[in-house]
Amino acid sequence: MSRSGRDPNERLRTAKKRTASSARWLTRQLNDPYVKKAKADGYRSRAAYKLMELDDKFGLVKGSRRVVDLGVAPGGWTQVVRQRSPQAGVVGIDLLPTDPIEGAVLFEMDFMADEAPGALMEALGGAPDLVLSDMAANTVGHKQTDHLRTMGLVETAADFAIQQLAKGGGFVAKVLAGGTDPTLLALLKKHFTTVKHAKPPASRKDSSEWYVIAQGFKGRVEEEVGEE
Ligand SMILES: C[S@@+](CC[C@H](N)C(=O)[O-])C[C@H]1O[C@@H](n2cnc3c(N)ncnc32)[C@H](O)[C@@H]1O
Repeated sequence: MSRSGRDPNERLRTAKKRTASSARWLTRQLNDPYVKKAKADGYRSRAAYKLMELDDKFGLVKGSRRVVDLGVAPGGWTQVVRQRSPQAGVVGIDLLPTDPIEGAVLFEMDFMADEAPGALMEALGGAPDLVLSDMAANTVGHKQTDHLRTMGLVETAADFAIQQLAKGGGFVAKVLAGGTDPTLLALLKKHFTTVKHAKPPASRKDSSEWYVIAQGFKGRVEEEVGEE
């Protein structure tokens, strides 16, 4: 038994009623130290630790004033931003509802919808200095389809960041193993001073997720504006 009184190898006794994969997911959740820690520390998700670890390594959050959180639900990353940069206003968006967080405007909306960028920018009231994307497409189990859908989210998030960020701003997005695809990587390298990949310790070893961290936005390239 652990100190929490739970058998660390806890298996679900009700597993028969569940599909094998949902039972596996639940067993893993119950035994995951980050899940327990998040509960104890008052974070809404274990994902909060991924942003903390990325922030500790890359210095992303401190000093930011306007932050966009794409795929905000249930709100762990926004909690971390508000804690580490209390002056920051956050605007978040998710397909799912997110319980209110002080200092954050939260949209229940598809980021891929045409009206999403406008709604985010109106609520933000100025150029963001940090755009975060932890969006993950719901997997359908078909590897290529899942890959394409996730890449579509990352590309759209990167386009948004490049169009809206303030000079010097940063962009962080969840990508798949193997990192960012060459076209997107080239685009980010063109617009940011540094582009790196990282897998924070809180990211599960068996998960294919990585993060791309682009810092030092160079500002909008004027000659591209109005280019045919
Ligand atoms: C891993 S969770 C984010 C966890 C969050 N960073 C936290 O710390 O609480 C990924 C989220 O992306 C959202 N998502 C996926 N596709 C989306 C889309 N097209 N528009 C908005 N949100 C989306 C999902 O609904 C899901 O809540």
